[in-house]
Amino acid sequence: MQFTVAIDGPAAAGKGTISKAVAAHFGFAHLDTGLLYRAVGARVISGDEAIFAAQSLAVSDLEQSNLRTNEVAHAASEIAVIPEVRAALLEFQRSFSARDGGAVLDGRDIGTVICPDADVKLFVTASAQVRAARRFQEFSQTGVETSLSEVLADVIARDKRDSERATAPLVAASDAVLIDTSDLTIEAATARAVAAIEAALQSQA
Ligand code: CDP
Repeated sequence: MQFTVAIDGPAAAGKGTISKAVAAHFGFAHLDTGLLYRAVGARVISGDEAIFAAQSLAVSDLEQSNLRTNEVAHAASEIAVIPEVRAALLEFQRSFSARDGGAVLDGRDIGTVICPDADVKLFVTASAQVRAARRFQEFSQTGVETSLSEVLADVIARDKRDSERATAPLVAASDAVLIDTSDLTIEAATARAVAAIEAALQSQA
């Protein structure tokens, strides 16, 4: 069975948590596509050229321990504007989405560019303040030294770069179900995602 769930949205909106939860719920495979861009960003920080890094990306690049840092997120959003970088990462994402047994992909352009025919599209968002507060808490828990204002500035800068780039900008697909998690618990947000997916599965049965 092929069944693709596309989950897009801005930084720290809850995409990752919701994606993992729905993938576990339905037994689907999950790909965090942000990790591909982060891995390219990390290679650029260590001196590689961006397009070469994207074209030669290896599994070991995805296993680096620094990929979740703010510095790498920043580099990721800079290389993500380069069309050749996006093109180099496209085929891997498409073939993942077509795997047997169902797939959940989360990112910025899954429902619009990578999988325009996805069976379910979700656009997960929240206010910039709420997202920065969540990301700041994650950083604090993992011992990363930063301030709330720095994280907020970074979230706003990345939102702007992701939304305004010419190639595959961050935008909700016209047929996406919108989930604003600003005032939702993670359980409530996940329940909405599960309900949308169940409805699509039933309509295909
Ligand atoms: O977890 P968070 O939302 O902060 O970031 P991420 O999903 O890991 O993505 C990091 C950066 O990669 C984003 O700011 C985007 O610029 C870029 N990205 C993208 O352009 N397209 C994707 N499908 C996924 C990420």
